[in-house]
Amino acid sequence: MSPSDRPQTSERGFDAELMDGVRLIFSSIRRAELTPCIVKAVRQAFSADSASLILVNAGGELYVAFSEERLAEDGGGGATGRLVGDGVASRVARSRRPALIAGSLLADERFVGLTPRGRVGSSIVYPLCSDDRLLGVLSANRDPDRSPFSEGDLENASVFAGYARLALDNMRLYDELETRAAALATARSRLAFSERMAELAHLVARLSHEVNNPASSALANLDFVSSALAEAAPGAARSPDTLVGQCKLAIDEAAKSVRQIGVVLKRVDQFVGAEVQERQAVDLVQLVQNVVATLRHEIIERARIVSDIDASAPPVNGNSKTLSQALLSITANAIEAIPPGQATRHTLAFRIRKTTGGVELEIADSGRGIPPEVLGRIFDPFFTTKGPQSSGLGLTVVREIVNEHGGRIDVTSSPGATAVVMFLPASS
Ligand SMILES: Nc1ncnc2c1ncn2[C@@H]1O[C@H](COP(=O)(O)OP(=O)(O)OP(=O)(O)O)[C@@H](O)[C@H]1O
Ligand SMILES: [Mg+2]
Repeated sequence: MSPSDRPQTSERGFDAELMDGVRLIFSSIRRAELTPCIVKAVRQAFSADSASLILVNAGGELYVAFSEERLAEDGGGGATGRLVGDGVASRVARSRRPALIAGSLLADERFVGLTPRGRVGSSIVYPLCSDDRLLGVLSANRDPDRSPFSEGDLENASVFAGYARLALDNMRLYDELETRAAALATARSRLAFSERMAELAHLVARLSHEVNNPASSALANLDFVSSALAEAAPGAARSPDTLVGQCKLAIDEAAKSVRQIGVVLKRVDQFVGAEVQERQAVDLVQLVQNVVATLRHEIIERARIVSDIDASAPPVNGNSKTLSQALLSITANAIEAIPPGQATRHTLAFRIRKTTGGVELEIADSGRGIPPEVLGRIFDPFFTTKGPQSSGLGLTVVREIVNEHGGRIDVTSSPGATAVVMFLPASS
């Protein structure tokens, strides 16, 4: 520090400087910001040439939390983080008595054996304690060419130390809070991960079952064809016509099983792809119109389309590809629940309304309904009442998509009235 940079004795007086310092130290609570603020406030309030803050670490050792250059005896050079050995600060910490060092350190009986380091004229070294617990030590130093610190400065230091202690206590509480919040976040993500793994394990077990059955059936049919053909010879027990007929049947069965595997794998692929990658403002009205256009032929064979759309509904925040996939799946279920050929007696309704924070979309059909014992299982992977041509993953994928969008889905049903209601957050 050049002489012109050096703080001069304040003309504003200690109280005004103290209030500025207090404002400064209470403007920050994080360790990295607070410790330099305290040191700066000390230097200004006491018109010191250098200052440092030494704190106690978790292991009970003293370390330099922040220091400005040219410290009395702790090595100087702003050695932040360095552990403090035997010196003025550690002796003040041990005795917990403030020290005013105005003359030579060598002549001071409290500091016998210590060698003064650096160019220090006078120092105030103040222990910071909270409820009998030592938090650290604050020190301020003036160069030899300045008027030395006085007893009055030492009294003022006790006022400043009170504020510094409060700020350090707040910082410690904040540190603890941050550590706990971080631990909580880690525990939460571990929990989410293990839940996800359990779900995955369940899915893989079901998947292997769902694939194994048709695969074994396909294999058995193909084995039959292979051995039947191997036996084929003039005069064999099976006539050529019987042989061709039986082989054709077995091959058709095998093809059906392979197609079934294809259906399951396609749904699994959608399930895995349900994670939202790109999001943008999506107009649900447009998506409903697209779904109706895609399935128009199947719908009008079975029901009248009712649409009840609130034009003020905002766009939702989402991925139009996966949301379309969800709407198609729900609409396909509704279609499958209505027998064809009675379109005048049935309705398929699409309702969109604005609700708090988002949009509610309802797809309601007047089909056969879902019995109460089935209703609780409709979102389960591979649950289906429609036989082997269906994967039973339709609503599992739908729920995954809605969850990934931060939404909710609910299904209510009674004979002749099933409603799937989903809520999706609006795009901001
Ligand atoms: N609108 C509805 N009306 C009556 N039952 C329904 C309706 N929606 C779903 N379900 C019941 O819920 C079950 C599970 O539906 P989900 O869409 O998950 O599978 P799926 O339709 O059987 O097969 P997939 O969708 O894979 O072809 C259906 O098998 C059916 O019993
Ligand atoms: Mg379905």
